Amino acid sequence: MALHELYAAAGKPSVRMVSRAIHARNDMRDHVSHETMSAMLRGRNLPRWSKAESVARQLADWSAGETDGERVLRDLYQLWLRAEDVRESSPEGDSLSPVSHPPASVSSTKPAAENHFVGRRDALRQLEDWISHDEKPIVLITGSPGVGKSALLNRFVEASRSDFPDGILLTDLHDRQQLPRAPSDVLGGLLSRLGVAPTGIPPELPDRVSLYRALLTGRRTLVAFDNADTAEQLRPLLPAVPGPRVLVATRRAMHGVAAREGAATLALASLPHDEAIEVLTVAIGADRVRQEPADADAIVELCGGLPLALRIAGAQLAVHPNWSLRELRRRLTDARIDTLSLDDPLADIGVLLEGSLSAVSSAATHLLRELSMRGPEEFEIEAVQTLLGADGSVSERLVNELSNVSLISGPDQRGKYFIHDLVRAFIREKRSTAQ
Ligand SMILES: Nc1ncnc2c1ncn2[C@@H]1O[C@H](COP(=O)(O)OP(=O)(O)OP(=O)(O)O)[C@@H](O)[C@H]1O
Ligand SMILES: [Mg+2]
Repeated sequence: MALHELYAAAGKPSVRMVSRAIHARNDMRDHVSHETMSAMLRGRNLPRWSKAESVARQLADWSAGETDGERVLRDLYQLWLRAEDVRESSPEGDSLSPVSHPPASVSSTKPAAENHFVGRRDALRQLEDWISHDEKPIVLITGSPGVGKSALLNRFVEASRSDFPDGILLTDLHDRQQLPRAPSDVLGGLLSRLGVAPTGIPPELPDRVSLYRALLTGRRTLVAFDNADTAEQLRPLLPAVPGPRVLVATRRAMHGVAAREGAATLALASLPHDEAIEVLTVAIGADRVRQEPADADAIVELCGGLPLALRIAGAQLAVHPNWSLRELRRRLTDARIDTLSLDDPLADIGVLLEGSLSAVSSAATHLLRELSMRGPEEFEIEAVQTLLGADGSVSERLVNELSNVSLISGPDQRGKYFIHDLVRAFIREKRSTAQ
């Protein structure tokens, strides 16, 4: 059904009415001007798909009794793609914008300025490998706060557009307050993006799950979730198998999802030195790094190669143009966690680590303290037994608790665990302020 038929089925509302309704839905992906909309409804212009989609969705809602919203949107998208082909082969076609994204749309969770992505070649290759084979349709990207899970997820999604002709659904599972979103709300949004009119979205969670799974069955879609909180939040959002590929970024290890749903895990570690230097270089410019190379090296070490810490360090230098790299190094040496905090809870290493720490038991907190003050950076479970004077199963439980929220990482293939230097600095500084 072409757009003008949809327009007729919706009762030929005025352009103003459509515009108001789009705003009322708070569909801020794209503002659609009256001119664009009039030209579009008259078939004179073809805006970006996201704009066309906003208008079409609204019209589909109003004609819900007479049309099948999802089918209409799909038909419309096909028409739109064909028109795009014509445009691309036509020299006068410049007034139309390029293909932005298919109906199951990508929306980046990061501002453009943050998109200077560095390295992670192995991780990207591994993701590509999993995603292109059928055995592991679900991949969890895990790791500590600020290690670069979201950055990697976004990078992969951007690079994979052409591999997913049925589109990419990228969703942040945190709300604006950084709290976990309820699966039912998330599904409401996903169903809407899959073309279901608001009236067609079932009120109950199980029905939403069924409809969502039915709509995605057999589709070559990439479903990506950033900031997944728990397995309970994630499970209702997993499509049925066989179906789309699923990529999840989470601070939690989610061993249960790996076991029950057969998810693969990509545990992200800090950046190697050369890539970490590159992140710092992007932030402060090559000249400054070249002028004080030894201090740049030391800063990268003090940040433990953690991308967020490097970004904050870079931002501190931008905020304090009078600081040399040596001065920043000195401050990081004296008060690491304080120096790695900007006036923003999302850019404050202390706040992030405190958040992870609040999720574990007091016994696990005690273990982390002991490890930070007395333990080596790399350790085996036996060292924990010795440190705590506890038996194997207690030690294992506490270690699991800490690794589940990425306060420590491991075990690796040698059975070794690892405590990040920033975590140790955090515990030490916390302790010295408490004293
Ligand atoms: N490979 C990279 N290249 C350049 N910048 C990066 C890279 N990885 C991460 N960053 C930057 O580091 C910061 C933290 O990364 P990101 O937000 O991806 O961490 P995260 O692991 O998702 O953290 P959280 O657990 O808090 O969600 C961001 O500013 C991001 O842009
Ligand atoms: Mg993230």
